[in-house]
Amino acid sequence: MSTQFPKDFLWGGAVAANQLEGAYQEDGKGWSIQDVTPRGGWGPITDVPTEDNMKLIGIYFYHNYKEDIKLFAEMGFKVFRTSIAWSRIFPKGDELEPNEKGLQFYDDLFDELHKYGIEPLVTLSHYETPLHLSREYDGWVNRKLVDFYERYATTVFKRYKNKVKYWLTFNEINSILEAPFMSGGISTPKDQLSEQDLYQAIHHELVASARAVKIGHQINPDFKIGCMVLSMPTYPLTPNPDDVIAAMEFDHRNMAFADIHARGQYPGYMKRFFKEKGITIHFEPGDAEDLKHTVDFISFSYYMSTCETADEAKKTKGEGNILGGVSNPHLEASEWGWQIDPQGLRYVLNTFYDRFQKPLFIVENGLGAVDELITNEKGERTVEDDYRINYLNDHLVQVGEAIEDGVEVMGYTSWGCIDLVSASTAQLKKRYGYIYVDRHDDGSGTLERYRKKSFHWYKEVIATNGKSL
Ligand code: BG6
Repeated sequence: MSTQFPKDFLWGGAVAANQLEGAYQEDGKGWSIQDVTPRGGWGPITDVPTEDNMKLIGIYFYHNYKEDIKLFAEMGFKVFRTSIAWSRIFPKGDELEPNEKGLQFYDDLFDELHKYGIEPLVTLSHYETPLHLSREYDGWVNRKLVDFYERYATTVFKRYKNKVKYWLTFNEINSILEAPFMSGGISTPKDQLSEQDLYQAIHHELVASARAVKIGHQINPDFKIGCMVLSMPTYPLTPNPDDVIAAMEFDHRNMAFADIHARGQYPGYMKRFFKEKGITIHFEPGDAEDLKHTVDFISFSYYMSTCETADEAKKTKGEGNILGGVSNPHLEASEWGWQIDPQGLRYVLNTFYDRFQKPLFIVENGLGAVDELITNEKGERTVEDDYRINYLNDHLVQVGEAIEDGVEVMGYTSWGCIDLVSASTAQLKKRYGYIYVDRHDDGSGTLERYRKKSFHWYKEVIATNGKSL
């Protein structure tokens, strides 16, 4: 391939605190909503953390991070995306003073990354709302969350002012539409949650996000603060204009999040949607002004595309698909039913860039698959994960195509660069990593790390700045 990736392209990997740190109540950490969802984001929810919850130990990153970062450095990472577990800093979420031991952990983690010249990219809220905020306040439905989040964001912005440059406000903020508990800490069961309350909760998150951008830039004008959306390009199932409009309307529900973050106001199509649904968003004084603090860049996850149709009879929900949508008859799917569409990544990059002309950052992409640990002819313990290499290679080729199209792409952090616990199903057997972690869903395993074949492949991609693709 002839594409030149920009010379300062940020190659790396992504994780989230709750999916790998473990140590769920060490050093003063409070419980988060993840500590009571042993089967993953779709429930059930337990009263207290239970031993079958793989996230309580994760992959022991809290204690093993130095060795893991060494492996990331060996691959040549320029950037590492992780989240700060909010409940390590404010264990219940509504305290006035932060937990020093939690702050110290991330100081040490960021220092370790800088030792190898790896830039941290930090998500403030990655599906890990403090449990107390969920139980006592009903999560983001409650306006008070805006202030709690502001205190948390201000605390970490000040603390890591000189250690972290790249920040993301909320992971996959639009996933609240389908997963209000996991995404927004909303305790009210989904089937009892009114659209009025859901959209008011979304408004609170959007205001909190914009305020974080405002405050972050005051604390350090060099901060680059982005939003993070779950991107899922929506194709019409057929060329029937009814399907085209159905796809556009489905896409609008998701695009609204990036639109508001990038343009600082609600788009006309959302005002129409609210009018038709009888929804009234309550704006506090100052909200409209705060929303004008737009993001420096747009980041997104990309795993799959989807289809939409106006034909009720054909509306079969695609498997493994958080935001709904209809399966595409032209695509194959992963073992978990996620449809694989590398060209969709080029499409989505162009769509965002055409719309916003802001820099884009692909902060999640990858293949969840079952891996088999073997001993190769050199006597090394490894995984021959050609399927993962093919998936990632095909997607990165499309990133190259988008760069050729003129899209400004800041970087690429593939998801789960080291095996971790899945968000949707809480399994470890659904592996994404370049590094195999010997831990299994029955709790067995040594927690040893092994380089997979894709480890060496990615190292080469980074070393050649994409020329080896
Ligand atoms: C994204 C999330 O939805 O997809 C991650 O931001 C998640 O937290 C990733 O892990 C992959 O999903 P899963 O369910 O396979 O872990």
